Amino acid sequence: MARISGHFPAFSATTFLFLLLVVTHLRQCSGGGHDYHDALRKSILFFEGQRSGKLPPDQRVRWRRDSALHDGATAGVDLRGGYYDAGDNVKFGFPMAFTITMLSWSIIDFGRNMGGELGNAIKAVKWGTNYLLKATAKDGLVYVQVGDPLSDHNCWERPEDMDTSRMAYKIDANHPGSDVAGETAAALAAASIVFRSRDPAYSRLLLNRAVKVFEFADRHRGAYSSSLHYAVCPFYCDVNGYQDELLWGAAWLHKASRRREYREYIVKNEVVLRAGDTINEFGWDNKHAGINVLLSKEVLMGKADDLESFRINADGFICSVLPGFSHSQVQYSPGGLIFKAGGSNMQHVTSLSFLLLAYSNYLSHANHAVPCGDTAASPALLKRLARRQVDYILGDNPLRMSYMVGYGSHYPQRIHHRGSSLPSVASHPAHISCKEGSRYYLSPNPNPNILVGAVVGGPNSSDSFPDSRPFFQESEPTTYINAPLVGLLAYFSAHP
Ligand SMILES: *[C@@H]1O[C@H](CO)[C@@H](O)[C@H](O)[C@H]1NC(C)=O
Repeated sequence: MARISGHFPAFSATTFLFLLLVVTHLRQCSGGGHDYHDALRKSILFFEGQRSGKLPPDQRVRWRRDSALHDGATAGVDLRGGYYDAGDNVKFGFPMAFTITMLSWSIIDFGRNMGGELGNAIKAVKWGTNYLLKATAKDGLVYVQVGDPLSDHNCWERPEDMDTSRMAYKIDANHPGSDVAGETAAALAAASIVFRSRDPAYSRLLLNRAVKVFEFADRHRGAYSSSLHYAVCPFYCDVNGYQDELLWGAAWLHKASRRREYREYIVKNEVVLRAGDTINEFGWDNKHAGINVLLSKEVLMGKADDLESFRINADGFICSVLPGFSHSQVQYSPGGLIFKAGGSNMQHVTSLSFLLLAYSNYLSHANHAVPCGDTAASPALLKRLARRQVDYILGDNPLRMSYMVGYGSHYPQRIHHRGSSLPSVASHPAHISCKEGSRYYLSPNPNPNILVGAVVGGPNSSDSFPDSRPFFQESEPTTYINAPLVGLLAYFSAHP
């Protein structure tokens, strides 16, 4: 110390310039060149563009207008509100609930990193939970979808113009759906944690409802794809079974309520409900990796020895995701992006990266690393991998393009999204009917309305991206791509 202070050099302009260059270079090499906070703000703003129902006065996405104001009327109930899942105008309850669960988890773990965006993130959750409360208002049934997907997908219409069937689909004791009901219970329970200190009355309402919906899901077991096959398949068909959502719902209720019955349920049903299955997946259909990571937090904190097997599963999941390990089961594109076949790849990228980051934080606090074969994966390694995925999304990729609309200078222009690709109501007030929309769908022109913050399905397995509406697997955004990304961006904006 003394030597340095004794010989501190004169701070010349040249030295300063040199230091500036070194610092800038390091920032770029470490991926710190991204404006994560700007991306965070946009990733949350996206949810406003997906809103259904009557828009509030503080709506910032101004090219959108009120839509679907009679949802639920055919069933004599109020089902206005909620979110369109993607580039169409159906309200699919299963992915919507998963979206709310993940937005809530983003806030629970990373809300303190959101700065001024926290309020907007909470509003995004509440727009979803207000709808889920309507969908679960009657005991013993849950409305799980509004809109006939076949007629909706057959049209290219703005949500504001939509004139296809708004049939409301429900599950009940005779037509069970433990998958969608389990996920809905998870969403309500997770959101109750978000509101616990901010709005205790609302939080209690959410938690009490979660308890009831979970009870219904567990008592009347079955897959909603069997009960409502024609309406939900192949769109959000539960391929993976409903067992994982029962454990997932119980895990969130355990976290939110701290009642012993949920912990006992988890321990008792762990084997029956196959907690360890297909552990390297996490998405609206498959919750296994999420259950294991979520429950591991307490194990790592030394508070739940009876849940130790979940930590072992979570470790196994981590090893299966890390590239270059013998256990690795997840593929990467040549440019370094996690890649899973089957369309809308970015949902896997953001949800798996979220789990890497969340788990790395739990490990850090416990001073642990993950043993993978004869190496150990440190929390820092998991963070680097998660950051690498986020940076790829934001532009560090072979095409040098951002896959988030409105972020950076080069981003998707022709996303598969009805509202974004058709002229707005402000610029074209006249109705545009089902088939009149086709010419906008087929047009080579960029979309007129920029759906800021939308992250699309992304490049194919060789890092190519067509930027074309008909390539929906690549060019369609979804709410469940963004929900985990909100947490990732929050963390990296606070730890650039
Ligand atoms: C990815 O897209 C590019 C360009 O459209 C195409 O040439 C390539 O074959 C595609 N790769 C795969 C694996 O589909």
